Amino acid sequence: MIKGEAIIADGKGNFNLEAISIYPPQGDEVLVKIKAAGVCHTDYDSYKQWDKPFILGHEGAGIVLAVGEKVQSVRVGDHVILNWAIPCGTCFQCNLGNENICEEQSPVTGKINKGHVALERTIFKGQGIERSFNLGTMSTHTVVKEAAIFKMQEKIPFDVASIIGCGVMTGFGSVVNTAKVEEGASVVVLGAGGVGLNVIQGARISKASKIIAIDINDSRLEMSKFYGATHVIKATKDDIGLLQAAEKVKKTTNERGADYAFECTGIPSLGAAPLAMIRNAGMAVQVSGIEEEITIDMNLFEWDKIYINPLYGKCRPQVDFPKIINHYKNGDLLLDEMITRTYDISQVQNAFDDMLAGKNAKGVIVF
Ligand SMILES: NC(=O)c1ccc[n+]([C@@H]2O[C@H](COP(=O)([O-])OP(=O)(O)OC[C@H]3O[C@@H](n4cnc5c(N)ncnc54)[C@H](O)[C@@H]3O)[C@@H](O)[C@H]2O)c1
Ligand SMILES: [Zn+2]
Ligand SMILES: [Zn+2]
Repeated sequence: MIKGEAIIADGKGNFNLEAISIYPPQGDEVLVKIKAAGVCHTDYDSYKQWDKPFILGHEGAGIVLAVGEKVQSVRVGDHVILNWAIPCGTCFQCNLGNENICEEQSPVTGKINKGHVALERTIFKGQGIERSFNLGTMSTHTVVKEAAIFKMQEKIPFDVASIIGCGVMTGFGSVVNTAKVEEGASVVVLGAGGVGLNVIQGARISKASKIIAIDINDSRLEMSKFYGATHVIKATKDDIGLLQAAEKVKKTTNERGADYAFECTGIPSLGAAPLAMIRNAGMAVQVSGIEEEITIDMNLFEWDKIYINPLYGKCRPQVDFPKIINHYKNGDLLLDEMITRTYDISQVQNAFDDMLAGKNAKGVIVF
């Protein structure tokens, strides 16, 4: 047994730094000492909204400390990235290549979530505690399924590695895997935060000719230009549905609208906004995963438009993470720059405050 500490949500909208005990991995389980954990907007939503206690965090990287007797792909000492959409490799969706929406082991789409290791591996106040998205990375240690592990063949810094496992993958993958943006295309990005900035990077790497970033926050628009936006539009909160911003988009896209628009704000009322930005037969990609009921003017769908909401950039970790690392090593994908600030585990509240104020591209908790 190891003594550690973790950020634990209380199920009532708060979290605290708490002492936990970690027990050895069994079977196909791996014990990881976390070195860095990225902060995603979903972490904020989860501790505010989930009515159960759990260890926060679903972006992380670290070092393998111990493995269960059935584990074959990783060893003690390996540097690893954690992946929350744990594919089983054999279900209906995994067989179709849709590992991000695995029916067996995903915390989001799993019929029964077999991706979560027994609660008893992490004990808080005498009881097993759930780990966010099967990982719980805002913790000194975690025990996860072998299938949640990506072994880094080439070692990259842990802070950079940690953000690959959600924000970078979701943004980059939505462009490259879902939309398959072509050279010369025009792209609009709504919300230039941790995810949206990686949509911008994906569009730049895909050689899009126009990348138009829309945000309400000036600092995020400045960051957008740095990561590859060719145009920026400052939106206002009273532009409901971003229809005024859409008029500006039309002016820069031959009055047609863009080929692609990616919604990355997480604001429910903007669920249809990417449709307003695109031309006929364009593609609206709702990246943020809005789940609320909203009213949509069906005129926005006219004509021949495609609307899709990919989960986690259609992540296939063993295929996509090496590509992302390659783009990072080539200098195409700017990830060191993306880590605006690091925090220690006692400063998680500051990390959320800075994210909400738009100060960070990504904040990372380092251990
Ligand atoms: N479905 C998935 O696979 C997945 C994965 C990761 C994150 N997410 C979701 O994606 C969203 C973005 O996450 P993030 O970490 O980038 O968050 P973030 O807080 O870093 O970024 C959100 C951005 O939206 C901007 N914004 C807010 N209101 C706006 C408005 N009215 N008009 C234009 N821009 C506006 C903010 O200024 C900010 O720059 C969140 O909702 C998160 O939960 C989904
Ligand atoms: Zn599966
Ligand atoms: Zn996330």
